[in-house]
Amino acid sequence: MYSEKVMDHFMNPRNVGEIENADGVGQVGNVKCGDIMKMYLKIENDIIVDVKFKTFGCGSAIATSSIATEMIKGKTVQDALKLTNKAVVEALDGLPAQKVHCSVLAEQAVKAALFDYSKKQNIVLEGLEDFN
Ligand code: FES
Ligand code: FES
Repeated sequence: MYSEKVMDHFMNPRNVGEIENADGVGQVGNVKCGDIMKMYLKIENDIIVDVKFKTFGCGSAIATSSIATEMIKGKTVQDALKLTNKAVVEALDGLPAQKVHCSVLAEQAVKAALFDYSKKQNIVLEGLEDFN
């Protein structure tokens, strides 16, 4: 029921850990299951040069966050903001329906970290005006 990509990212998650002096840190909880995700971003000249995550979440949360970090690394802040949970699920070749909410955690954690970055920089990022 899980794709090979999901299993790969679950067994060998990429970019696990923390970044000291991160430029943006976001933590979100999933209202549906109570799992927690923390995302760290290092941003230089508007480019996400490094990203790490930590989660107290299920296997699908690990797999979606792992692939989400790969999808935003090297991207501009604006491109990272466009990351959707749908794109994350597609990149994993799908998730079982009851596990799609796990991918929302990854998208929200990226947005929370970008929101934190924008606050620290005193800038307003389009699409995150109402984020909290
Ligand atoms: Fe807790 Fe996913 S519901 S691990
Ligand atoms: Fe809750 Fe996956 S994040 S079950």
